[in-house]
Amino acid sequence: MASYPYYLANRPVAANTDLDVLDKYSGKRATRVALADATAVRKAIVAAHQARGAVAAFPPDARRDVLEHCVMRFQERFDELALALCIEAGKPIADARGEVTRLIDTFRIAAGEATRIDGEVIELQISKRTRGYRGMVKRVPIGVCSFITPFNFPLNLVAHKVAPALAAGCPFVLKPSEKTPIGALIIAEILAETDLPRGAFSVLACSTQDAAQLVEDERIALLSFTGGLIGWDLKARAGRKKVTLELGGNAACIIDDDPGMPLDRVVERLVFGAYYQSGQSCISVQRIYAHAAIYDKLRKKLKAAVAKLPMGDPRDEKTFIGPMIDEAAAKRVDSWIEAARKGGAKRLAGGNRSGNMVPATLLEGVPHDSDLYRKEAFAPVALMEPFDDFEQAIDQVNDSDFGLQAGVFTARLDHAMRAWDRLDVGGVIVGDVPSFRVDNMPYGGVKHSGLGREGVRYAIEDMTEQRLLVIRDATG
Ligand code: SIN
Repeated sequence: MASYPYYLANRPVAANTDLDVLDKYSGKRATRVALADATAVRKAIVAAHQARGAVAAFPPDARRDVLEHCVMRFQERFDELALALCIEAGKPIADARGEVTRLIDTFRIAAGEATRIDGEVIELQISKRTRGYRGMVKRVPIGVCSFITPFNFPLNLVAHKVAPALAAGCPFVLKPSEKTPIGALIIAEILAETDLPRGAFSVLACSTQDAAQLVEDERIALLSFTGGLIGWDLKARAGRKKVTLELGGNAACIIDDDPGMPLDRVVERLVFGAYYQSGQSCISVQRIYAHAAIYDKLRKKLKAAVAKLPMGDPRDEKTFIGPMIDEAAAKRVDSWIEAARKGGAKRLAGGNRSGNMVPATLLEGVPHDSDLYRKEAFAPVALMEPFDDFEQAIDQVNDSDFGLQAGVFTARLDHAMRAWDRLDVGGVIVGDVPSFRVDNMPYGGVKHSGLGREGVRYAIEDMTEQRLLVIRDATG
């Protein structure tokens, strides 16, 4: 692979300092990207701030055209994008293709939204005092946005910030994960082909220290962060800017008692939800609560399915479990698994870690005060336990600091509605795993999981302000 520049105010810059990007499977250097320093980050913020008027005035149809251009170029560069993900994130190639497809979806959704940022007319004549007054509200771009994105979806989680900003008319500065910067830099390369006003975007790999400006600079109107619980510290440092956070979870899935439950299908979805891209998704299935009446049958089927998952080179079409992002992450989850086992948990499937390769692991009897139960595993590991009563299962799901999404397999409408009413999460998925996401749905969490929603339209709401116009009928 070639080496990549960073993008400062729409233009590529080859810096003196480089960052090595590793092939996560071989551990070898795959490529280098230019590393921005504090001065470059400051210049990017200044350029975005100066461009905010021009970007806001860039007409909605022109914004749509930019987004459509990206869609077209992503389609043309589909295989290259998928391979980049496979190498830089260690994402199995089938999952990598899935993410490129979603990248295209997200930009396509944003292209549609760009010309649909409507306002409303408000009836102000509510008393004699207000006769002859009319009110109207439109949405205007909030201004400069800063974005910090994680390693697990190097394209689509970048897209969930960049595409709404382009649709809304906001200039932005983005720092991709230093572990997986390539996806974002290819998006920037494609944006540089468009006629966006100068300063509309900067995409910079930089150190956490230099990225502090993206959190603290007062010229920035909105900070959108996806990552770990550190997001709450960023919010505390962000001053007056608006902050949206997507900080993960330890997602749960309830399997209700239902004689007609298609257990094979449930198992297929649980395997996908818990283990795809080695569980490195904020909505990966971590806790499985199955009704006692079906527990043994489900455990047997799940155990057999998990034990069969092929692990290996993510470039291999057959691979389901690829590497974790690095050895530190693999060691961490390994230590959590061992601590849970020492506390009495039984391993139903799994095996020894080798470097950053962690076999798909399934446990039961995991102590409720263990890290594996309480924290976000972000790894190919899930635990299961039985329940007797649906209300109890809901309580078990809610027994978490997190609340992003939850899944419920049930054939009972009253249980589905009860789950929707009582589960303390951002989204309840009935008939599937919590890991299900379509890119136009509101996505985000409650409790420690975050603040605000993404899903293009919902992000656009955050990236725009309401501006009121009141007109008095001078003849009245
Ligand atoms: C995430 O890990 O937060 C994103 C999950 C997804 O988009 O599927």
